[in-house]
Amino acid sequence: MRDGPDNPAKPAAGMRLCAVDEIADPGSKGFRFRAEARLFAGFVVRQGEAVRGFVDQCPHAGWPLGYDDRYLTRGGDHILCAGHGALFTLDGEGVTVPCLGQRLTAWPVEVREGEVFTT
Ligand code: FES
Repeated sequence: MRDGPDNPAKPAAGMRLCAVDEIADPGSKGFRFRAEARLFAGFVVRQGEAVRGFVDQCPHAGWPLGYDDRYLTRGGDHILCAGHGALFTLDGEGVTVPCLGQRLTAWPVEVREGEVFTT
């Protein structure tokens, strides 16, 4: 399990992740943090000036949804799980099987002066 309040690899609030301009619009960017043997994987999705963060873990089987910075469909209108093809809205709601009605776990981020930070 990569998420959870007890995961020492999860970055603390206030960590700078990237500049908004480093993310395509619409687009996504993945992040990996390690602490000893633990891993925290998250990604952010940009849509205009809005940036949302999610834990990189599909609610269906717990696999990472994407890799590198590739988390969206080709058209950029949905988040895509590369494992079994589930689609999610850009705010994390599952809209196709096997994740219909399930939600991605939020990884709270905020934009300050064009930079993305954990919160
Ligand atoms: S792990 Fe994502 S749809 Fe199966």
